[in-house]
Amino acid sequence: MTTRILGIESSCDETAAAIVADGREILSNVVASQVEVHRKYGGVVPELASREHLRQIVPVVREALERAGMRLRDVDAIGVTRGPGLVGSLLVGVTYGKVLAHSLGKPLVPVNHLEGHVHAVLLESHRAGRSPKFPAVCLIVSGGHTLLYSVEAEAAKRDPLAWQFHYRRLGGTRDDAAGEAYDKVAKLLGLGYPGGPVIDQLAAAAPQNGRRRDAPRFGPTKTRGNRYDFSFSGIKTAVLYYLRAHPELAGEIELRRAALREGKRKAEELLPSCGRATLELLAEFQRSVVRDLVRPTIEAAEELHAAAVLVSGGVAANAELRKRFEEEASRRGLEVFFPSRELSTDNAAMIAAAAYPRLLAGELAGEELDAEAVLPLA
Ligand code: KG4
Ligand code: ZN
Repeated sequence: MTTRILGIESSCDETAAAIVADGREILSNVVASQVEVHRKYGGVVPELASREHLRQIVPVVREALERAGMRLRDVDAIGVTRGPGLVGSLLVGVTYGKVLAHSLGKPLVPVNHLEGHVHAVLLESHRAGRSPKFPAVCLIVSGGHTLLYSVEAEAAKRDPLAWQFHYRRLGGTRDDAAGEAYDKVAKLLGLGYPGGPVIDQLAAAAPQNGRRRDAPRFGPTKTRGNRYDFSFSGIKTAVLYYLRAHPELAGEIELRRAALREGKRKAEELLPSCGRATLELLAEFQRSVVRDLVRPTIEAAEELHAAAVLVSGGVAANAELRKRFEEEASRRGLEVFFPSRELSTDNAAMIAAAAYPRLLAGELAGEELDAEAVLPLA
């Protein structure tokens, strides 16, 4: 007997629903992105996000069912993101999940969004037939979070292929999340929203050889106290100061803003208005962010004698981050795991997957289930 869980996710600016069988086989995975709604503001506007969720939730769930060839009554349980996130956004998914579970008479499993990101990595490794060994360290790095955990796994009693995880928080950002730094730097430089994917591609286009004497260079960020904490506001400020010291770059920024207004948002469309200094600046920004993400994660893995490193969240799609993690991990005999790009960003397949071991353990929501803007994993 397979257990088919309908996952619902609405914590930020993606309305998503998915059907996952036994926590590991994705039968459907539908994501309605609100990026067009928030683009002109350069970030997520909570009020608009809730309204969009309300508009999208019913059709998105319907489509997830259709693509899986199922009807609502075929669903065995519902997993819903309870937090952390924007409370007005979360409430849409939580309310809809509650109503569905109640009217269908099916169990409702509350899911921590962050645990969803951990399961996104495992969904992929399941598909590839390659599973991480534990203990592992897990870096969750997105527009809203930069968190480092140690993860122990225990096979679920009723299904030895399903993992129940135990987390310990090792560190987190003191200020901006890494994805937030990408988005803010993109805004400063006239590169549109979200900033991550475009900066990722433009940084790779920077000339590799013959570094100019006045090319920007940002040193490693030191966080006093906990060595596994992160900080990205300093790098963002360094970009701002570099731009102030180089007023000759202002013309290009205006050109790019004009291109964005014409709907030219792709890296290749913005590249012609990026001079060498801008590309070098982006490359240095990205190098610094990646370095400051990789170093504490690898150090933690070594100190804890971890067997694997899991990296998840929107920024895990970054090509340089993947490359550097692969290099550093293989040098130390560590295995590193990422979700596919599709499962890196917010989705509901990861929520349905995370709900499965909790369903087996009987961790169900009661009528009092509420949305939680702040919900630590450990
Ligand atoms: O996980 P996600 O979809 O939503 C949040 O929970 O935040 O992550 C979105 C974030 C944005 O800040 C976006 O700029 C960043 O992930 N991002 C990237 C890349 N793709 C998305 N950052 C760096 N490189 C990328 N390729
Ligand atoms: Zn997320």
